[in-house]
Amino acid sequence: MSTKSVAASAVHNSTDTRSEVQRRRSFAIISHPDAGKTTLTEKLLMFGGAIQSAGTVKGRKSSKHATSDWMEVEKQRGISVTSAAMQFEHDGCVINLLDTPGHQDFSEDTYRVLTAVDAALMVIDAAKGVESQTIKLLEVCRARNTPVITFINKMDREVRPPLELIDEIEDVLGVECSPVTWPLGMGKGFAGVYNVHDDQLVRFDPGQDHVHTETEIYKGVHNQALKAEFPIEHEAFLDEIELVNGAGTPFDVDRFLAGELSPVFFGSAINNYGVQDILKALVEWAPAPRPRAAETRTVYPDETRFSGIVFKIQANMDPQHRDRIAFVRICSGQYFDGISMKHVQSGKKFRCSQAITFMARDRSRLQTGFAGDIIGIQNHGRLKIGDVLTEGENLELGGIPYFSPELFRIPRLKDPLKAKQLKRALKELGEEGTIQVFERLDGGEVMLGAVGILQFETVAQRLESEFGVNATFEPVNIHKALWVTAETEQMLKEFERANHRRLARDASGSLTFLAPTRQVLELAQEKWPSVTFHTTREYR
Ligand code: G4P
Repeated sequence: MSTKSVAASAVHNSTDTRSEVQRRRSFAIISHPDAGKTTLTEKLLMFGGAIQSAGTVKGRKSSKHATSDWMEVEKQRGISVTSAAMQFEHDGCVINLLDTPGHQDFSEDTYRVLTAVDAALMVIDAAKGVESQTIKLLEVCRARNTPVITFINKMDREVRPPLELIDEIEDVLGVECSPVTWPLGMGKGFAGVYNVHDDQLVRFDPGQDHVHTETEIYKGVHNQALKAEFPIEHEAFLDEIELVNGAGTPFDVDRFLAGELSPVFFGSAINNYGVQDILKALVEWAPAPRPRAAETRTVYPDETRFSGIVFKIQANMDPQHRDRIAFVRICSGQYFDGISMKHVQSGKKFRCSQAITFMARDRSRLQTGFAGDIIGIQNHGRLKIGDVLTEGENLELGGIPYFSPELFRIPRLKDPLKAKQLKRALKELGEEGTIQVFERLDGGEVMLGAVGILQFETVAQRLESEFGVNATFEPVNIHKALWVTAETEQMLKEFERANHRRLARDASGSLTFLAPTRQVLELAQEKWPSVTFHTTREYR
């Protein structure tokens, strides 16, 4: 295993751009809460040589927190709210790892992160199997044909039979599984995992303090030493392996890349077990950045000219400095210090020399970056989610979703004199995607929309700590907020005139219909057949 920090050397010709792009691997780690995503993230960083030791996983009593957890709310509640981007170099590849909030209340953020990666690593708790949040996340992956690597975690516990787990993943998630490793035993009788491709078993060695321990290797499924040490487990293992080899789906890298087949690994993240298998799969099988469809043409990652899309805005990552960072996924070409960029949405040009790269809370100034990399650009609210940056071309790169909110609140100020601050704060939080903010056309009260209830808590806390605004949130009778478009400008204007009271604009200025009840919505849909009511919107 070779690890070193990412080298920063300017590359200016297309051959070098191509080889730099080819060694990029960008993936998101997804799971239902508690499956072990944070633990595995830390271990990947540790084995990737990016951090020396794993910080204690969030939610524990220790003062240290997981490297990818930086927000106060996360620490207090023990959940990941924001998505961290981390980069490290491993075995000749530059790996961009994007953490995602597991809690369903923050799933919107996760969906956006999934648009910025080329592959996903799905973590399943072996005792629980497929859980609700995993189902939703996999739907997004499937819709985009994202290749998925599966890690079945917690084999050091008494868990469900592995064959049952594989069946469940295939049936419930609709992804064909190809086991690359297979466990021998579980819990106290867990001997380790047998690698189907290498025909060997790496002995399980509990403990989380070691990184490079000498591992004991047993060759062949009929290994006598294993049989002697784990007689009962070994017998069941032989039966299972026969099934896996006979009736199982063989691994096919093309089918994996098409999002049809998932290589499956078993392990125990907390015990550092199975983590290296994942890193190896990422390097060997996960795709390099792929072409992206723009409105006018296909954008190829190895084009020499830079293009990138903002998929996330985050304020105050550094509590010492009030800052606002746009996370940009580079879609083509090369970023270099001092590059002249065009912000396509405003048409404005600017010289960018302050882009940063991340190692969770730590950041450093970036010298060069290539397609597949995630870079951070500090700005004061000019960059919004879905915005495109190029070296001059007017490129429309879509595909970042915004979901119709299901919960609605009206903010109430404790101090009415803070109305101006509240307005400014909500504008920022709306643009950041923390919450959806709707300004009514009739000048009525501003309304907040969320997908999950915890989003309001995050907003309340941030209003207070970052903007000095104390607010409470009052429920409001709204059934749904749907974005509306019409066949012609004229029709939209007519609709707007007739439904003035029920319309609002969101942070991006898009027209939204606020339906108080399902009946009102159905009536409007019937009455205005040429108007389309959308439950999702792509950032433009
Ligand atoms: P998440 O980010 O997906 O929400 O999960 P996280 O890594 O926080 O892990 C959830 C819990 O599962 C943690 O326990 C963690 O220690 C435990 N865990 C993770 N991987 C393994 C594993 O391989 N084996 C076992 N047995 N447990 C694992 P916790 O109860 O939240 O904290 P603590 O009691 O361990 O301190």
